[in-house]
Amino acid sequence: MKIIVANWKMNGTVAFADRFIEEINLVDSKNLAVVCPPAALIGRFRDFRYKIGAQNCFSENEGAFTGENSPKLLKEIGCEYVIVGHSERRAIFGETDESVFKKWKAAIENRLTPIVCVGEKANERENWREILSGQLKLFLNETLSETIFAYEPVWSIGTGVIPTKESIETVFEFLKELLGNQTRLLYGGSVNSQNAEQILNCKNVSGLLIGGASLKIDEFKKIMEMKR
Ligand code: 13P
Repeated sequence: MKIIVANWKMNGTVAFADRFIEEINLVDSKNLAVVCPPAALIGRFRDFRYKIGAQNCFSENEGAFTGENSPKLLKEIGCEYVIVGHSERRAIFGETDESVFKKWKAAIENRLTPIVCVGEKANERENWREILSGQLKLFLNETLSETIFAYEPVWSIGTGVIPTKESIETVFEFLKELLGNQTRLLYGGSVNSQNAEQILNCKNVSGLLIGGASLKIDEFKKIMEMKR
């Protein structure tokens, strides 16, 4: 069984969500599928057959934090997963390793499974070991059995360029050594139905984090249905 996560980012409409739910509910997948729509659409997923996640949460459960989403409330409305530290949140919304770590902690305390994203930028490709170690430093003394990590090289997101099998395996081996053998690791960046199988076959890859292709229902179905 593989973990197949859809990250819709800030895309989708009520009509699209309804159609997606209707069509995906007909899919009989043995994989663990998790859909992370925009927070405003989560309520539409009440009768969804698979799992629901949020794309972000705040590090506090309540208070004067206008515009933020409470992890406690996300749990209450049916989320079981939450993505934290996506590279777009780091780059556009100023999230830091410290703020990502606080969100991870809040997610764990609320029994949400955090999907922590890490990855190097194009100009950091040669130093990926240092970059990933730095992003993960705060996690190294923690219990990580309930945490999923996603390796998303920033240069691969939305570009159609994916790392070779060899480089994915090298990175994942490094991450396993750093985070412990029990940790589940996803790959994200330009995944589609053509390359998904090849990536899922890489050693230590437990699943995929999918952006653009998760908004194409037929594409997402094909990936969900891949046998493991
Ligand atoms: P794409 O699949 O569109 O490259 O996006 C990857 C991503 O950022 C998923 O979180």
